[in-house]
Amino acid sequence: MGESRRLTMAVTGAGGTRMARYVLSALVADERVAHVDLMVSGAGRKLLVHEFGGPEAADPVEKLLGGLNKKVASWDPDDLAGPMTSGSYSSWGMVVVPCALGVVGRIAQGQANTLIERAADVCLKERRELVLCVRETPFSLIHLRNMTQVTEAGAVVYPMIPTYYNVPQTVEQMFEEFTARLMSFIGLQQTDYYAWTGEGTPAHDDRSR
Ligand SMILES: Cc1cc2nc3c(=O)[nH]c(=O)nc-3n(C[C@H](O)[C@H](O)[C@H](O)COP(=O)(O)O)c2cc1C
Repeated sequence: MGESRRLTMAVTGAGGTRMARYVLSALVADERVAHVDLMVSGAGRKLLVHEFGGPEAADPVEKLLGGLNKKVASWDPDDLAGPMTSGSYSSWGMVVVPCALGVVGRIAQGQANTLIERAADVCLKERRELVLCVRETPFSLIHLRNMTQVTEAGAVVYPMIPTYYNVPQTVEQMFEEFTARLMSFIGLQQTDYYAWTGEGTPAHDDRSR
C-alpha cells in the first residue's frame, strides 16, 4: 500500500511567500500526501498580500492556491487549541516555508506562544521532522546561534537559497527547482530536478529547468 502522509506546513513573515505557493501546490498534487495542516502567521499574511498583490483572503489557502483544497485544513496560529498543539495528533512533521529568523529564535528558546511555535516544539519533543526554510541575508551571530540550537535539537535548517548550476532562466524555474529538491529532501522523491552528473553545466538552450 502506498504512503499516506499527513504533515503540517507553516508560512511565516519572511520574504519568499511565493515559494510557499509552489511547495503547497506540490504537496496537494502529490498522491503520497493525504492531508496538510496549514498555518499562516499574521506577518505571513502581510507578506502574502505584498508579494501576491490583491486583498487579503479570508482563508490564506485561497491566496496560496487560488482556491480552497480538500486536502488542506487551515488553522489560526493564534489559537493554541488547534490539533497540532498535541503530540497525540498524528503527523509526519512540519515544514516552514518561508521561515523568519524571529520564528527560529522563538523555537530555539522553546517558546510556544503561537500554534506555529507550539507545533514546532511538538515536532522536536516527539522527534519528528522539522524543516525550517529560513530566509535572511546576512545572518547575525544571534541567527547563527539559534540555527545551531534548533539543529542540535533535531530540526533541519534548509535555507531558501536557489541553485545556480542548473542555469535557471526565470525566477519561476528557481522556485520549481527549490521545491522539487525540498520535496525529495522530505522523502517525497521527485525526478524532475537537475542532478549533477559530473559532465558540466547544461547548455542554456538544453535545460528542462
Ligand atoms: C515586509 C516584511 C518582511 C520581512 N522579511 C523578513 C525576512 O525576509 N526574514 C526574516 O527573518 N524576517 C523578516 N521579517 C520579520 C518577521 O516578519 C518578524 O520577525 C516576525 O516576528 C516573524 O514571526 P511571525 O511570522 O510568526 O509573525 C519581515 C517583516 C516584514 C513586515
